[in-house]
This record gives sequence, C-alpha cells and structure tokens, in this order.
Amino acid sequence: MSGRFFVLEGLDGAGTTTQAARLAAHLREHGREVIETHEPTDGPVGRLIRQALRGEEGAVDRQTLPWMFAADRADHLTRLVEPTLARDADVISDRYLHSSLAYQSLDRPLDLVYSLNADFRVPDLTIFVRVPVDVCLARIEARGGVREIFEKREQLAAILEQYLLVLDRLEARGDSIAYVNGDAPVDEVEAAIRAAVAGA
Ligand code: TMP
Repeated sequence: MSGRFFVLEGLDGAGTTTQAARLAAHLREHGREVIETHEPTDGPVGRLIRQALRGEEGAVDRQTLPWMFAADRADHLTRLVEPTLARDADVISDRYLHSSLAYQSLDRPLDLVYSLNADFRVPDLTIFVRVPVDVCLARIEARGGVREIFEKREQLAAILEQYLLVLDRLEARGDSIAYVNGDAPVDEVEAAIRAAVAGA
C-alpha cells in the first residue's frame, strides 16, 4: 500500500496554507496518517531559496531559482515525501513543481523548467485554488511583513496565466487537477477541496 500525494497550488495570497492544514485535519479525522509539508522546504536548499525570495543581499539571483527549486524538490522527495508514501501515510504539500512551472517561467524558458522537473513524482491530485490577483494582493497587504519578490501585481497576473497554461498541459498528459474557487468563505473553499479529494 502507498499513501496518497496531494498538492495545493495557487498564487501568493490564495490561501493554500490554511487549506492544506484543514485538509490534513479532515483526512486525520478519517483515520489517515497525514504529513503536511511545503516547498520551498525548511531544508538546506530551501533556506537559500528563502533568502532569494526576500531579496536579501548576497542571495542567489532569481535567474538561478529554477535549479534551486528543483534541487530543493529532489531533496524533499528523497527525505520526506517518498518515505512517507511508502509507509502508507498521506502527504499534503503546500506547493510543488507546478509553482516552478508557473513562477520560474517568468525568468527562464518554460521548456527548461519542464525538463528540470520532468522526472519528479506526479501527485495523485493537484488542487488549484483560484483567486483573482486583486484579492491576493489585498490579502498580502493585510498580512504585512516583508514583500517577497513575486508579490507584485504585474507578476502575479503573469504567473496566473502561466499556471493556467501549464495545468492545462499537465491535465492533457493525464494528471489529476481540480480547480477550486478560492474567492469564497474559507469553509466553502474547504468543502470544495474535500469534495475534490473524495472524488479523486
Ligand atoms: P509561500 O511560502 O508563500 O508559498 O511562498 C513561496 C514563494 O516561492 C511563492 O512566491 C511561490 C514561490 N515558488 C516558486 O517561485 N517556485 C517554486 O517552485 C515554489 C515551490 C515556490
């Protein structure tokens, strides 16, 4: 037996972190063991990525991020995701390779980003939490704190377009992708995600 691998994706401010926690709680209520995780990870490569996302002096350039995210992902899969699934526990990841395809293709050709991610495990279900760019920006603003490098209107609009394009391509090759309206009360979003998981 192998556990199931669920991925939540969406723009910054889409609410994937909240929804990942809620989905985990729901699956646990049904007796599943669930590991919640996220990318970038808290591991060694993930820490370097966070410095770059915050725009810190001396951090790697954003042009280098496709390789950094791919390295972090390889480490994530080896250290945590694969062993967890192998012992029949479920994994919920807040972001995965779809984020690389959508975000890193702003700076590098999409085909390059695809090829860096081509060999990674395909999730059992990817849930895209769709929220309009303006709503995401308002949430980012309300949250306060340091603005990360992608948290700007024009970029988020371009990333949303890329997301829809790449998700379409992945769906065409047979990946399971669910689209959920994230611009709704949080309980409604949660219910839609549960329904998608139940049907997967
Ligand atoms: P988060 O912690 O709010 O999810 O922020 C992570 C940021 O990193 C977010 O702006 C999306 C970005 N990101 C990428 O650009 N590529 C990736 O592969 C991943 C996993 C995240």
